[in-house]
Amino acid sequence: MNREKVQIFDTTLRDGEQVPGCKLDTKQKLVIAERLDNMGVDIIEAGFPISSPGDFLSVTEISKVVKNATVCGLTRAVKKDIDVAAEALKLAKKPRIHTGIGTSDSHIIHKLNTTREDIIERAKAAVAHAKSYVEDVEFYAEDAGRTDNAFLAQVCEEVIKSGATVLNIPDTTGYCLPEEYGAKIKYLKENVKGIDNVTISCHCHNDLGMATANSISGAINGARQIECTINGIGERAGNTALEEVVMIFKQHPDLNLYTDIDTKQLNEMSRLVSESMGMMVQPNKAIVGANAFAHSSGIHQDGVIKNRATYEIIDPADVGVNESSIVLTARSGRAALAYRAKKVGYELTKTQLDVVYVEFLKFADMKKEVLDDDIHLIIAASKIEGDLIKR
Ligand code: KIV
Ligand code: ZN
Repeated sequence: MNREKVQIFDTTLRDGEQVPGCKLDTKQKLVIAERLDNMGVDIIEAGFPISSPGDFLSVTEISKVVKNATVCGLTRAVKKDIDVAAEALKLAKKPRIHTGIGTSDSHIIHKLNTTREDIIERAKAAVAHAKSYVEDVEFYAEDAGRTDNAFLAQVCEEVIKSGATVLNIPDTTGYCLPEEYGAKIKYLKENVKGIDNVTISCHCHNDLGMATANSISGAINGARQIECTINGIGERAGNTALEEVVMIFKQHPDLNLYTDIDTKQLNEMSRLVSESMGMMVQPNKAIVGANAFAHSSGIHQDGVIKNRATYEIIDPADVGVNESSIVLTARSGRAALAYRAKKVGYELTKTQLDVVYVEFLKFADMKKEVLDDDIHLIIAASKIEGDLIKR
């Protein structure tokens, strides 16, 4: 079976930047956009041009520097938004306007105070207007996750007729279960005329911790674009994490799906975004967290020292991490102590290791983590200095 490409649409600079307190200036956004482009992202959502003069400027400047990726600007289904986005994108090599409107009953009744018929008319008009500026128009059906499938299919069919090239099916509130979200994509594939001529996109939020699972389920069921952010940042509990979906496709060739992301850049990219936004990455974050390749229990350490693959499914080098780390704590065993002692210059015999290990445990019970400097102290306290082979 032929492998198919899933396009990576990065929205770190738009949905990601909606995190309170994490606003970036244009200079910071330019640095991130150039790095995303270099890493192989297919589409960069650079901002929401009508939202502020600063965002307009960012989209304009990003459009000038991005070499390979499509540059995308967000709009509501409002004529003025689209005019402003088109203006901001006019120097982009590959511009895309991303327009849309709420389609769930909750949005139609409570937010927009209108009818389904009116939503269809506004969606069609927005897509047609965007199409008068650019060839590539993406339509989002906001809150598609909670939209009735038959109505969603009707909206999709109409916007395809108006010229949409990409259909974004956002689970805006992070409500769907993976099976349910996958079934929604399958339903659209089977019930929307013209769907095979457009790309279906997954845009999932993480309110129930299922953004990545939902996006993968969408791709398994026919979506060929995933919208995501570095470190999974975004509104509330965040968006699908780019590094997670990319590594899932890499680690599961059985899915027959791939991306063009240079995975070796993932770790550095994560740091750049975290530092620019002043937003720490949780240590246990998949792929890019500080502990993603750290082993601290004795049983695991022994296994990893013998063969990395016993407790690691990803080679750290594949995501730009130098090596796995063996963290010394009171839960560590002799194998880990010998390994770390060797790294700081001590080749311990089995008898020496037994003596040093007793001292190590006393020390480790007093500290959360035993560091390289502590190893020297522990060895000195073990009083075997004279017989030691020091490399
Ligand atoms: O979550 C969402 O529905 C969005 C749209 C604006 C695409 O971010
Ligand atoms: Zn979103």
